[in-house]
Amino acid sequence: MQQITLRRPDDWHLHLRDGAMLNAVAPETARHFGRAIIMPNLIPPVVTRDDAAAYKGRIMAALPEGSDFQPLMTLYLTEDTDPADVKRAKEEGLISAVKLYPAGATTNSASGVTNFDKVRPVLETMAEIGLPLCVHGEVVDADIDIFDREAVFIDRILDPLRTSVPELRVIMEHITTKQGVDYARSGGDNLGATITTHHLVINRNAILVGGIKPHYYCLPVAKREEHRLALRAAATSGDPSFFLGTDSAPHIDPLKESACGCAGCFTATNTMSILAEVFEQEGALDKLEGFASLHGPAFYGLEPNEAEMVLTKGEPVTYPDKIATPDGDVTVFDPMMPLHWRVG
Ligand code: DOR
Ligand code: ZN
Repeated sequence: MQQITLRRPDDWHLHLRDGAMLNAVAPETARHFGRAIIMPNLIPPVVTRDDAAAYKGRIMAALPEGSDFQPLMTLYLTEDTDPADVKRAKEEGLISAVKLYPAGATTNSASGVTNFDKVRPVLETMAEIGLPLCVHGEVVDADIDIFDREAVFIDRILDPLRTSVPELRVIMEHITTKQGVDYARSGGDNLGATITTHHLVINRNAILVGGIKPHYYCLPVAKREEHRLALRAAATSGDPSFFLGTDSAPHIDPLKESACGCAGCFTATNTMSILAEVFEQEGALDKLEGFASLHGPAFYGLEPNEAEMVLTKGEPVTYPDKIATPDGDVTVFDPMMPLHWRVG
């Protein structure tokens, strides 16, 4: 029997939603993870300090009894965000980051940023107080091919933004390309990047070959195989610039299996088993702890979790195909390979 022990992992990019969905999915993450950066793209979004305080209360109420899971809250950056409100929320210890969505880039991003000059005062305040910016790095221009959105964002938006506010700490969220890997790797101490579980497993064939597979559709959309291989190399390299952000994003099945299906893969349930399989395939099980448990806290200026997680290799792991919610089922991400590492 093979076992590995790591510090309890954290998820540096998570969608918990609200209401009945929140109650159904929060335990899936709290079972394995110590902390998670909670995405603010609710309807309406979590924009102010008061919104974040109220949402945090709802998350705490949704956790199983006795859970010590800690939600790390974020604010959704809009062109009207007040720097003083952001500063207050950070000083209270309520928020850990601010999230930048280019308007229209993804699920519930309509209130995001179009004119980057308008958010400069907030970004400057964040640089001063050491509050990181989580960036959804895709342009939304109609003339840019969806598979090129990330690479073009780096050149047109991210690099100029970082040059104009160099002290700002930035996390490139859910990178999906070789260009994203290269840029994050060469970006110095103020730049990090999260990588999802599913982008280490699928390329764009998973969505399109043999019929449309809506449960593999997410944003940024999975790219060619060469990009998946670059992500695997980055995640398993031991480079502290790269850490886990699952982007686990539940939608009920009718909203995925539709003529206009929602973007998102729900991986909270089986992420750690999938990651152990991937890291083993890459001959890098010794790098899993860095990626899932150490690099993220270091970037955010936090200590790693005290508690440990044991992963044991054995017979293929079973996990539910779907998580039931009162609004409908949520399909759990199918990695299309047997998983041999169980938590515990
Ligand atoms: O696939 C995604 N789903 N990507 C995002 O950026 C948003 C997320 C969601 O909220 O559903
Ligand atoms: Zn996300």
